[in-house]
Amino acid sequence: MSHDGKVKVGIIGSQFEADIHAASIKIASEHAEVIAVASPTHGNAAAMAKRYGIPRVFTDYREMLKEPDVEMVTIAAPNQLHAQMTADCAQAGKHVVCEKPLAMTIEQCEQMIDVTKEAGVLLLYAEELIFTPKYLKAKEMADGGAFGKVHLVKQSEKHFGPHAPWFWDVNRCGGGALMDLGCHGIAFCYWFLGRPAIQSVYCQMGTYVHADKTQAEDEAYCILEFENGAVGVVEDSWGRRGGMDDRIEVHGSDGVTYANLHMGNALPTYSENGYGYAVEKAPSTKGWSYPVFEELWNYGFPQEMAHFARCVRGKEKPQVTGEDGLVVMKALYAAYASAGEGRKIHLPFAAKGVQKPIDLWFRGPQYRPHLGRK
Ligand SMILES: NC(=O)c1ccc[n+]([C@@H]2O[C@H](COP(=O)([O-])OP(=O)(O)OC[C@H]3O[C@@H](n4cnc5c(N)ncnc54)[C@H](O)[C@@H]3O)[C@@H](O)[C@H]2O)c1
Repeated sequence: MSHDGKVKVGIIGSQFEADIHAASIKIASEHAEVIAVASPTHGNAAAMAKRYGIPRVFTDYREMLKEPDVEMVTIAAPNQLHAQMTADCAQAGKHVVCEKPLAMTIEQCEQMIDVTKEAGVLLLYAEELIFTPKYLKAKEMADGGAFGKVHLVKQSEKHFGPHAPWFWDVNRCGGGALMDLGCHGIAFCYWFLGRPAIQSVYCQMGTYVHADKTQAEDEAYCILEFENGAVGVVEDSWGRRGGMDDRIEVHGSDGVTYANLHMGNALPTYSENGYGYAVEKAPSTKGWSYPVFEELWNYGFPQEMAHFARCVRGKEKPQVTGEDGLVVMKALYAAYASAGEGRKIHLPFAAKGVQKPIDLWFRGPQYRPHLGRK
């Protein structure tokens, strides 16, 4: 393997997030290049290869791992596959970038950390919110004392539900809006506050809009108490109409800041005719809409991939790793247990025999299925 020049990347997956990885690495082309893509549906991988000029296409990712010049593999496949894929990558000597959430269970997260450590490769956790320029600006201001002592950080992510069927299947996703979107918010609050231990989690959730297509929660409201006394509030929804909404608030003794990632970075637009594309998951561009420019950059994806490539080259220290993914998973367990039991859960929280976090909601006395069934 070369130890200089662009990091050679293989991508597992060829749909939504894989496309973002390829596009982001193209933007960060000074640091990395995608030389292979693997996805079981050959036509899809080939189409992505064509879009981005990727020379090698595989239907079995294990074949891609045999390519000696692939140095870093990004995993953009359904959640329940992350752990096995990470183990296979590590055993093949490849550095791993794994999408969120890190895996389905705490045990899997721990195994992923162990297997990559044993193999001497990096496990980089693809949480782009810590690379999001607007959110980075908020953190810089907070760390510089702009808000005095920060006691409350809020993050919310809301849209009308994921694009692919596997997200709606609790056995492949592990949960619903909280698992899928709350993993961002928990990671964000933890990072923003300087990684103090999470001491307790209280969470309420329900299936209000999509009971016809999932057993999972489509709304979740989660309160985290941190060791330093600060509180994180994470709100997530798969029931919000009108495209993606991602925002934060930071409150301190001496100040406050608000950041609205999409609408706040958009051109308020009215069109009778519609136009090509506004923002992730927006169903229409007719009437009022909020087209975002430089969407990937505003989200931090190219910066994230450039950083990961520089970590592989030993030029930067990883800012977000498997350990962060494990902290998030532990908080997710506590959140689902809290929703199931109807009470605040203190950490550390141990739960045995858990196949997927949402089981902790299903098994609790407060679980009321399908609030929203018509
Ligand atoms: N960071 C973010 O903001 C963000 C956004 C969306 C998705 N994600 C995460 O990215 C991951 C993928 O989500 P997505 O939206 O791209 O899903 P998707 O359904 O759009 O794509 C999944 C891809 O995985 C591939 N795949 C399925 N089984 C496979 C296998 N056995 N071997 C190799 N590839 C396989 C599919 O062929 C497909 O290309 C998930 O973990 C998701 O949570 C992260």
